[in-house]
Amino acid sequence: MVRETALTPADLIWPLFVTDGEGVEEPIGTLPGVSRWSVDNIVARAKEAIDLGIPCLALFPNTPGDMRDATGSHALDSDNLMCRAIAAIKQACGDEIGVLTDVALDPYTDHGQDGLVDDGGYVLNDETVEVLVGQALNQAAAGADIIAPSDMMDGRIGAIRNALESEGHANVQIMSYAAKYASAFYGPFRDAVGSRGLLKGDKKTYQMDPANGDEALREVALDLAEGADSVMVKPGLPYLDVVRAVKESFGVPTFAYQVSGEYAMIEAAAAAGAGERDALVLETLTAFKRAGANGVLTYHAAHAARLLHG
Ligand code: PBG
Repeated sequence: MVRETALTPADLIWPLFVTDGEGVEEPIGTLPGVSRWSVDNIVARAKEAIDLGIPCLALFPNTPGDMRDATGSHALDSDNLMCRAIAAIKQACGDEIGVLTDVALDPYTDHGQDGLVDDGGYVLNDETVEVLVGQALNQAAAGADIIAPSDMMDGRIGAIRNALESEGHANVQIMSYAAKYASAFYGPFRDAVGSRGLLKGDKKTYQMDPANGDEALREVALDLAEGADSVMVKPGLPYLDVVRAVKESFGVPTFAYQVSGEYAMIEAAAAAGAGERDALVLETLTAFKRAGANGVLTYHAAHAARLLHG
C-alpha cells in the first residue's frame, strides 16, 4: 500500500547478441546464461519477449572476423547481421515489439574502437560521425524503431537526427547513450561481440571519466538540444546518482543500462552462494526505478519478467 515504485516487464529492454548461421546458440563464457543467437533464433527471442510483456529489444552483432576492417565499413552494408535481424523481427512481429539498435563501430572495426582512428590510434570525432550517420540510416532503412548511438562522439545526435529527417525516417526515435562512462564493466560485452581481443588501448578519449557527475548533465543537455528523444546512463548500478540527477534536471525519458559486468557480478555472486539470484535480480532492477529510471536495459530481462509474472 505504501510502496513508492513498481517494477514491471514493461520497464525492461532486452539486449540480444546476433551471430551468423542458422539454428545457432553460442553461450558466452563470461556472461553465463546469455548466448549469441542466429537470426532465426533472434526472432524466437522476440516472440518470447512479446509473450513476457517486454516492449523492446536491443540488438548487437558479432560480426565475422573477415568482415572487420579499419573503418568499420561493414556497418554500412544493408545485408549485415544487424539489418537481417531487424528485418526478420519486423517481418515476424511488426509493431508488437520495438527494436533498438546500437550505433558505434566497435563490432565492425579490426581495432575494436567505436570510431575511425588516426595513426596514433586516437579516435577521430568528425570523420567518425559521418560513418555513424550512414550506419544509423542503414539500420533505419532495415526497420529499426529506435537508434541508440553508443559511440560518444560529439555532434552525432544532431547529425543523425538531420539525416533521419531528410531520408524519410522522421518517426524513428533516438535514444542517446548520453552519459556513457569509460567503465571496467564492459568486458563480457566485448567478448560477446568479439572485440575484446582486438581492442588496442582504451576508450577514455571519448567515454566519460567515472569521477565526473556534472559532466554527465552537460552531455545530456547537448544530446537533448541536438534532438535525442530519450537518454541513457551507462553503466547502471554504480551510477544511480547520475540517473537521479538526469531525471531531476531534465524530466525526459531516462534509461539506464545494467551492463554486462554488472550481470556477471550478480551471476558470480549467486553461483558462489553469496546471494540469492532471483532476489538480487529483482532488488537491483527495482533500485533503478527508485532512482528515477523509466526503464532498464538488462540481460536479466526475460528472467526478471518471468519472476514478475509469478
Ligand atoms: C559499444 C557498446 C558497448 C556496450 C554497449 N555498446 C561497449 C563499449 O563501449 O566498449 C557495453 C554494454 C555492456 O557491457 O553490457 N560501443
